[in-house]
Amino acid sequence: MTAPTSNAKLIAWVDEWAARCKPDNVYWCDGSQEEYDRLCEELVQGGTYTRLNPDKRPNSYLARSHPSDVARVEERTYICSEKEEDAGPTNNWMAPDEMRKVLYEQFDGCMRGRTMYVIPFSMGPIGSPIAYPAVQLTDSAYVVTNQRIMTRMGQAALDVIGSDGFFIPCVHSVGAPLEPGQADVPWPCEGDISRKYICHFPETREIMSYGSGYGGNALLGKKCLALRIASAMARDEGWLAEHMLILGLESPEGEKTYLGAAFPSACGKTNLAMIMPPKGFEGWKAYTVGDDIAWIKPQKDGSLRAINPENGFFGVAPGTSYNSNPMAMDTLKPGNCIYTNCLLTDDGDIWWEGMDGPPPAHGIDWKGNEWTPDAGTPGAHPNARFTAPAGQCPTIDPAWEDPAGVPISAFLFGGRLSKTFPLVYESRDWNHGVFMAATMGSEATAAAIGQAAIRRDPFAMLPFIGYHMGQYWGHWVNTGKRTDLQLPKIFRVNWFRKDENGKFVWPGFGQNMRVLKWIIDRVRGRAGAVESPFGMMPRYEDITWSGIEFGTDKYLGITDIAREGVLSETKALKEYFASFGEFLPPELEAQRKDLEDRATKAPEVWSTAA
Ligand code: GTP
Ligand code: SPV
Ligand code: MN
Repeated sequence: MTAPTSNAKLIAWVDEWAARCKPDNVYWCDGSQEEYDRLCEELVQGGTYTRLNPDKRPNSYLARSHPSDVARVEERTYICSEKEEDAGPTNNWMAPDEMRKVLYEQFDGCMRGRTMYVIPFSMGPIGSPIAYPAVQLTDSAYVVTNQRIMTRMGQAALDVIGSDGFFIPCVHSVGAPLEPGQADVPWPCEGDISRKYICHFPETREIMSYGSGYGGNALLGKKCLALRIASAMARDEGWLAEHMLILGLESPEGEKTYLGAAFPSACGKTNLAMIMPPKGFEGWKAYTVGDDIAWIKPQKDGSLRAINPENGFFGVAPGTSYNSNPMAMDTLKPGNCIYTNCLLTDDGDIWWEGMDGPPPAHGIDWKGNEWTPDAGTPGAHPNARFTAPAGQCPTIDPAWEDPAGVPISAFLFGGRLSKTFPLVYESRDWNHGVFMAATMGSEATAAAIGQAAIRRDPFAMLPFIGYHMGQYWGHWVNTGKRTDLQLPKIFRVNWFRKDENGKFVWPGFGQNMRVLKWIIDRVRGRAGAVESPFGMMPRYEDITWSGIEFGTDKYLGITDIAREGVLSETKALKEYFASFGEFLPPELEAQRKDLEDRATKAPEVWSTAA
């Protein structure tokens, strides 16, 4: 097939990798519906996809991965900077030349018996000054079809690259060559975990991924490009690449406010991105811009404008229901989706744990085995995912593809914390906000002795930062030093405080709108707050309670602050900060000391009611 581009650098790069991987064919993807349908049909013929019942799930497919290939492999993910210290203490590192040697050997002949697909794509709306074009090579048609939903793929992206333009080169192989006559399997991948590699070269802006076909390991535009490589580009170019949803909220008066919110994986970004204003919020509208990644660039007018670099949602399926996330369910309704590792029902539909209504009496589970509700094993894998076009979301923001992006007024950070941390607090200033984000985390639930240790996940970027974590915090501190910017306000939220019986106190989901409204009102300078050891907090009367019964006592139970809890946090942080050495911005240690001071002077139990 002749290359549909005159870009000599691109053609030479494709030739180089074709010579190395030795595929049977090289195929340039045009991103058309016809091509998508054809590849899906081939995947059905090969047993990778099951076509779902067209009456229930039009133009939709189910894939079952190999049971060993169900999630990102953080222990095989590398940042290959020239210097080890530039990868920082939170990343695996190998020198670029050494890694290239390992990878070139593994890639040698790895596409034998397969087609090498060339996927030109854009992360971000085509032509947006915030977007970047890229090209992924892959030997997986599953990846091609998912990429068509998750990115803007095809000729338009190739046109952006033009005859001599920049693109981010991404190479991917499932690492399962076929010998002549060898039959393929439904989900080829490298079975030996020590041969899987997800590698990033931040200085030369390259990505190479070997051995896995799943999600963030294989859809290289997502975590590899839009977070790990982009975070290094953002540091160099003065912008922000974040693990954030983007949400627009419109008041009954028509005033619109955009928020960016970072929560760790599987902590509720998709839920918040598609929030439905609850009873009591008549006239309010919520609009979705993105559910996972935000690229945020400072503008000449001092605003920070954000785009969602993705074109679809790769959402956690289990737990998604009309009860928990109706807008996600309605996004799936028109069809055109790919489901991975869900249960197949007898009428050709999909199902997962937590879906509305009773479970099906019988089905085929994610491993391909007969399943009944008393099987004792889940029908869908806990990390089963749907791949859905973002444009199908009923609440998609009219401006979601605006090349200029949307203006961000507030940043939210939050994890799963069952105690100590209140429902919401606002930072005292920018650096305090950076401290709040850098120190966030979620509880590691393993805790054999019941002592909940916090797994730190700074900015929800622990698995996704493409350079030294301490330097990244410094980049945020430096952004705050810019006098030409109107900086968004920064908040911490925690939907996950539990009572003495281990139950969530806060109803969450749509009810989170009450917290968002207080945040908007703070941004607009019209809501009350009191100063707590942690930050500025709403009193009971500062929150809108119409449409729900949620008494003062319950509220105090999720907003009080125990001095001992804060002091053990500041003690733990001292140790944690030490691991960042000279790269720890001194501003953050100063914030830690301030928090310790405030806590020391605070009453044994601080309360918003006092
Ligand atoms: P990635 O796609 O992995 O980055 O994650 P995500 O942040 O988009 O995860 P997702 O939205 O799928 O997280 C879903 C999980 O968060 C489920 O376990 C939900 O029950 C839980 N969740 C979401 N919102 C709330 C809430 O307001 N309260 C409580 N208690 N749980 C919530
Ligand atoms: C995450 O783990 O944060 C995800 C899923 O969004 S994946 O794309 O597989 O990384
Ligand atoms: Mn994510």
